[in-house]
Amino acid sequence: MMSNIETKSPADAASSDGRATDEGAERARRNLINPAIRVLMMPKETNALGTIFGGIILSYIDQAGAVEAHRIAPGRLVTVAMREVEFHYPVFVGDLVSFYAEIVRRGRTSVTVRVTVEAARAGTSKEKVIVTEAEVVYVQVDEKNRPIALPDA
Ligand SMILES: CC(C)(COP(=O)(O)OP(=O)(O)OC[C@H]1O[C@@H](n2cnc3c(N)ncnc32)[C@H](O)[C@@H]1OP(=O)(O)O)[C@@H](O)C(=O)NCCC(=O)NCCS
Repeated sequence: MMSNIETKSPADAASSDGRATDEGAERARRNLINPAIRVLMMPKETNALGTIFGGIILSYIDQAGAVEAHRIAPGRLVTVAMREVEFHYPVFVGDLVSFYAEIVRRGRTSVTVRVTVEAARAGTSKEKVIVTEAEVVYVQVDEKNRPIALPDA
């Protein structure tokens, strides 16, 4: 079955480690070209008003951040925090929504990812809006869900 979700290729994912500032800036530029995921919004994802349910966008933010976090944390990851999500614009059925993800902090066991959400409106307007941004913190855990150190950079 065809999916409405597109993800980065493994080749894209292999090219980043999130260390030095210059590399970080370069990565951010690259990531604003290549979203972690891109989703075509479907009618099943709407709320009672007919626009896209905010919780759906939050779920995709979580997925996009995890795709990026896995670059430096290949083990089991859990989401421990999602910081201040403010929606600036609604998202509509038919919008092509890109979730750009950038690692902004690497801790001992945690990785923080900033996710920027951009909606390209359906139809011919070519309008694009930044819907929201969020920081999501993931922790790498063992089989008993205890935090474990990230691999060496
Ligand atoms: C993630 C979890 C294992 C962390 O446990 P903990 O006892 O807080 O562990 P620690 O205090 O050792 O913290 C581990 C890391 O998480 C970070 N962390 C913990 N709480 C945090 C918070 N609220 N915000 C940001 N980072 C946080 C710590 O700073 C630390 O990072 P570091 O090692 O890079 O410095 C535990 O909180 C948990 O299992 N939460 C549920 C996760 C989950 O199931 N998510 C999906 C929900 S549906």
